[in-house]
Amino acid sequence: MTIAPEHIRRLTPYVPGKPVEELERELGLGDTVKLASNENPLGPSPLAVKSLSEHLTAIHRYPDGSGFYLKEALSENLGVPAAQLILGNGSNELLNLIVRTFYHPGMNAVSSERTFVVYPMAMQAVDGEYRSAPMKGEHYDLDAMAGLVDARTVCVFIANPNNPTGTIVRRDELARFFDRIPESVLVVLDEAYFEYVDDPHYPDGLSYLGEGRNVMVLRTFSKIYGLAGLRIGYGMARAELIDSLNRVREPFNTGSLSQAGALAALADTSHVERSRRVNREGKAYLYEELSRLGLSYTPTEANFIWVDTKRSARDLYDALLREGVIVRPMGERHVRITIGTDGENRRLVGGLKKVLDRLDR
Ligand SMILES: Cc1ncc(COP(=O)(O)O)c(C=O)c1O
Repeated sequence: MTIAPEHIRRLTPYVPGKPVEELERELGLGDTVKLASNENPLGPSPLAVKSLSEHLTAIHRYPDGSGFYLKEALSENLGVPAAQLILGNGSNELLNLIVRTFYHPGMNAVSSERTFVVYPMAMQAVDGEYRSAPMKGEHYDLDAMAGLVDARTVCVFIANPNNPTGTIVRRDELARFFDRIPESVLVVLDEAYFEYVDDPHYPDGLSYLGEGRNVMVLRTFSKIYGLAGLRIGYGMARAELIDSLNRVREPFNTGSLSQAGALAALADTSHVERSRRVNREGKAYLYEELSRLGLSYTPTEANFIWVDTKRSARDLYDALLREGVIVRPMGERHVRITIGTDGENRRLVGGLKKVLDRLDR
């Protein structure tokens, strides 16, 4: 009998945000609003859509396995040699690829509580130890994390900004962290929300790569570029590390449409700018309305807000679903809400007003 080993059977499958179609089917609703998966509410760049349609007739061909043109464009944009770049089926794939490539039995990985759930999952899939440091409030405690690093640490995962809290680690905190850990430890700077950050103390992971630090910077086309459905992200590290990852990577891990869409989206700087502006405006509006509703939130550097509902998150989530608004309940009392378009944000606030009244009665 084929049976998965114990560590695979203990894996809890990733639970994605509820799809709009599912909610509409279950509750017989139309016009629902999904603010649950940190997607770009403006949709993809029109240039990306146009490029996809132009590439449709060539999908009988295998994609360019090395993603030459996209890597060239990224290289040009970011000033990183193409040999230091790798593409992934979302940055998610790259997180798993890092673990599969560099993990040896008996090693561990270090991260924080209340961070991206894929980190522990990637380690559990190889039966590796995952060490999670407590947070300081809603922020990573890098000193506590450095205390968990030892000679057997394969990598440290730092989501910057962090999902789900939306907080960042600052340049000075990161510098102290690098001073405290051995050079042999790979620091994965997961910058999925890089483009949304306003805080001037935010460290650009690429500067550490430039200094020759042992880092891997991950970014994605799923968030501000609005291409979550295409599944394409990228990583940057020293060429030797990229070379090792390429040995483990599947030959055609990113599709031809994904590469073409990403290439066009990258060039559409006005779409990125508009997305950033809509996010900034939505953030200001939601801060004001959440406060008015008596809900507390953590100031965010990303496209989502971590809200303390001060009551059962599940009850609030279920009640909002019935109003046609999907958010993401997390833990006992929190929900993570993606910042939407103005119309979507207003639907959320309208829904919250109704639901809170009802729940508190
Ligand atoms: C912190 C973080 N890293 C990585 C990802 C993965 O993004 P993708 O695989 O779509 O590139 C996400 C997605 O939600 C995220 O929040």
